This record gives sequence, structure tokens and C-alpha cells, in this order.
Amino acid sequence: MTGKEIRQKFLDFFEQKDHTIVKSSSLVPENDPTLLFTNAGMNQFKDTFLGVEKRNYSRAATCQKVVRAGGKHNDLENVGRTARHHTFFEMLGNFSFGDYFKRGVINYAWEFLTEVLGLDKEKLYISVFHEDDEAFNIWKNEIGISETRISKLGEKENFWSMGDTGPCGPCSEIHIDQGPEIGCGRSCCDPECDCDRFLELWNLVFMQYDRDAEGTLHPLPKPSIDTGMGLERIAAVVQNVTSNFDTDLIRPIIEETASIAGIRYKDNEKLDISLRVIADHARATT
Ligand code: GLY
Repeated sequence: MTGKEIRQKFLDFFEQKDHTIVKSSSLVPENDPTLLFTNAGMNQFKDTFLGVEKRNYSRAATCQKVVRAGGKHNDLENVGRTARHHTFFEMLGNFSFGDYFKRGVINYAWEFLTEVLGLDKEKLYISVFHEDDEAFNIWKNEIGISETRISKLGEKENFWSMGDTGPCGPCSEIHIDQGPEIGCGRSCCDPECDCDRFLELWNLVFMQYDRDAEGTLHPLPKPSIDTGMGLERIAAVVQNVTSNFDTDLIRPIIEETASIAGIRYKDNEKLDISLRVIADHARATT
């Protein structure tokens, strides 16, 4: 399946589930002085979550162009050095504005990954916010995931916010076990380890609060849903490669750059990092 096909399958899946397909907003957010670049699919819906803006739909899905090169979500220093970080990437997301909540989003995500993309259920691991028994129980009792494959993690991993202020809430992440050979060699056995073995695929955010400049959390008018799944990451998994840079979305740019430079990719690790950085930055600039 190509990256283009995965993107389309995602949008088609959610359209069939009564979501309105909304275009990616500009990388430079309109009317939001808190952000230099769009850093998540939910940015264009910030005021809808806050109840300030009304839309004529309560479910949406997007493939959002995103840059994470500064601010709260900054991946710049990792680009080229890891298999999975970019400045620019495309984020697949589905959103509920006071419509479905935890049960709905968990069921949709599971159906898309296991039935539409056909991922192996046994390789999928879940993390939930440590205080969120409701999400834990949905995964365990309704989806049927063994509790040994569900981790309860803290705020750093499982509480998502767009920035220092704005909509936020506990989240649940779906990870895939890429196998011990991809791991860090330490005794990593669940998503708490930060190495590439347990790769985070999809973040399901249960939007419940608005954080003010003092850090106080105020309940949102209606509990809502915001999700984010990196297209390049899911493409790597579906295409059975261990680096996003080896997917059809990026590898051709690397090959073209190497050809212009008169070198070969995967001959020299230092040059490979440069080729990956150039491919990433070329995509971001374009
Ligand atoms: N808004 C969810 C995410 O960026 O992971």
C-alpha cells in the first residue's frame, strides 16, 4: 500500500463513519499568536473545542500538514538521527466535538488498524493515563487486550496539550512492537521504553480541559476527541520497513539527492544522516 493509498483509506474510513473531511489548514496558523507553525491536526479546531466557534458538523477527519521544529513539540534535533522524527510530516486525525468520546474513538482506531490496514493484533500495545480507569477498561473488557499489554503511564507520556495554554486532556496511545532486534538492547518490554521497539502509532486524546496561562485546568464545554497518527510512521509499518525514510513518501527524495551528490545511500552513516536531513528539510521547505 502506498502512502497515498493509506492517506485515502483513512479519510474514506472516517467519511463512512459520518465524519466531514476537512482540508489541511495552512502551516502558518491564522489567528493564533500562540503558535508559529501548525503543530497538530487539532489546531484549526482549537476554538471549536473551546466552544467559541460553532461548526455545522460534530465529527471531522483531516490529513494535516504539520511542522515540529520549535516550541512545545520540537523534533528538530532528532531529524536524520532516528528512524521516525521529522520537522514536516502529515498527521492523520479524526475529531469529535462533543459527539463520540472514549469508547467511540477506541473502537474506530482499532477497526482501522486491524481491519482496514490489517495490522497484527498481537503486536499492538496500549498506554493510558495512569488515572484513566475508563479507557483502561474499554481496552481490556471491550476490545479484549490482555492487561499485560496495557501500560498505565504518567503525564509526560499520556497527557497531551497543544502548547502551554489551550485544549488538553489525558490520552491513550497505540504502539506496535517492532521486535527485540529493533530495541535498545536493554530489557525493554513495553511502550514505557523510549527506543524504537515499541513505536507509537496513534495518539487518541480525550479533550477535556482548557489550560490557562497560570496552568489551571478548566473543563471544556463538552468532552471531545482529537487524534493524531503520523502518515510516514504508519506507512513504514504497512510497507514493512523500519524507517520512515525508507517509505515511498521519502526514499525517492533521498535517492534523487544521492544521485545529484554522486554518492550512494546506506554506504556511510554520516552521509546518510545528511541525506535524511536534506530530504526532511526539502519536504518542509516545499
Ligand atoms: N493532537 C494529538 C497529537 O498531536 O498527538
